Amino acid sequence: MARSSLQLNSEWIPKVEESLATKQLTQRTIAERLEISRSSVSKFVNCKPIALNTFIRLCQELNLDWNGASQPEKEWNDQIESFKFKDTNFKVNPGGQISPEEVIGREQLIKDLWDRLRQQSLIFSGERRIGKSSILKKMKFEPPEDMLPIYRDLEGIRTPIEFVEGVWQDTETYLRETGKARRVREFLSELTGSHFSAYQFPEVVEEHWKTLLTKTIEDLVTLQNKQIVFIWDEISHMMGNFSDEEAMEVLDILRSLRQTYPDVRMVFSGSIGLHHIIKNLQKAGYSNDPTNDMYPIDGQPLALEDAMELTINLLEGEDIPVFNLQKTAEDIALAVDCIPFYIHHLVNQLKDADSEITEEEIIDTVDQCLRNPLNLWKMDHYRERIDNYYNDVQKPYALNILDLLSINPPTSFQRLWQYLQSEPDTKDKETARTVLRLLMKDYYLVQEDNLSGSLYSFRYPLVQKYWRLARGL
Ligand SMILES: Nc1ncnc2c1ncn2[C@@H]1O[C@H](COP(=O)(O)OP(=O)(O)O)[C@@H](O)[C@H]1O
Ligand SMILES: [Mg+2]
Repeated sequence: MARSSLQLNSEWIPKVEESLATKQLTQRTIAERLEISRSSVSKFVNCKPIALNTFIRLCQELNLDWNGASQPEKEWNDQIESFKFKDTNFKVNPGGQISPEEVIGREQLIKDLWDRLRQQSLIFSGERRIGKSSILKKMKFEPPEDMLPIYRDLEGIRTPIEFVEGVWQDTETYLRETGKARRVREFLSELTGSHFSAYQFPEVVEEHWKTLLTKTIEDLVTLQNKQIVFIWDEISHMMGNFSDEEAMEVLDILRSLRQTYPDVRMVFSGSIGLHHIIKNLQKAGYSNDPTNDMYPIDGQPLALEDAMELTINLLEGEDIPVFNLQKTAEDIALAVDCIPFYIHHLVNQLKDADSEITEEEIIDTVDQCLRNPLNLWKMDHYRERIDNYYNDVQKPYALNILDLLSINPPTSFQRLWQYLQSEPDTKDKETARTVLRLLMKDYYLVQEDNLSGSLYSFRYPLVQKYWRLARGL
């Protein structure tokens, strides 16, 4: 069982209380000091599971050994098994955390992902909100026997040493039964000149992040015998926070670790394509291809029947009146292209209906939500991404192409080109082709062949509708 949370051993409650008293801290003040929620602190003192990192930080603040203070593995596992996630009463929860039990569908995909991981590392990409993180978290909670998934969301990480510290803290959790991460601790003792027993890196080690990362992986592979799978979510976000040089070094060392330790697999996931990051690095002189050993997999919306199942669960969970459950569920699922996030949102909007929901109401509600300037469905990133990731030459091409396709049925390159040529800033045919490919990589468009040649259109009708409405077309 992969562990990303810990809970206090009840025998340690008096020590926690004593430490809070000595330090004159209350639950509120310690929460403020560590910038964590009060509910985490309350869960902590009540021996409920909280995030691993939060647990470690709380123990450090209270001068307690987190290893001793956390409940032994066996007991924890028993509790996890007897802990039932709520799965009978589905409530809408757009964008919120859902338990692995609440993740609908995805069984075949998850099986395929594990099978593929037995062969090689993966890049699991896909449009925002399509359900990638939910899939990865489900994998973390329900791994096959031979796999040890270690999940981490990297979004807030700003420096390589922070990243390595996270990886090391994650691995320590798994190594508790077999002994601590020995090599890392020996190295840290050497560097600091005294026995190292803390759970955060001291500042002096910053420049040694590469050695620390290598030793962390070495500790992990020698100390246990499963296939280790680091699942790193939002890795492009993290890379975007690094300097060019740091990003190049991290990508290179991760690749070389994959080659040196065949028992280690990595899953790079996230919504910003790594291609943007690597392209930027190339401009700064980078010539490596740091992910050419990884297999790319594209995340997709739910299959229609799974999207309908989710919709039915939510409609029933929220007691929403419908005339024909199957039909309404199908209308809702199709109105949002079977993207689970928007299913939650749409059902949420329909919650207050006092009579049975009709197909027109569904379509109207979608339109209203897309039009809403408050960006209710968080779709403005489709527009913002063009500014953030396309250069000044590419931008007008991207906007013109999307504008044209948003009001047209699938269109051939020929017709697109005719239009682009008639506009002032889009007169280069090869740039038009390059930008089209980029728009496909970024999930805006798809290219489909028919008898008369290739046709381009929006990948998701929902995004096409958003684009048309948001651009006033
Ligand atoms: N398989 C699923 N079943 C039910 N709800 C889902 C599923 N996948 C995603 N969701 C819902 O959609 C939201 C966004 O999903 P998430 O996994 O965070 O997407 P991504 O990581 O691709 O941006 C989740 O908070 C959840 O409410
Ligand atoms: Mg995500």
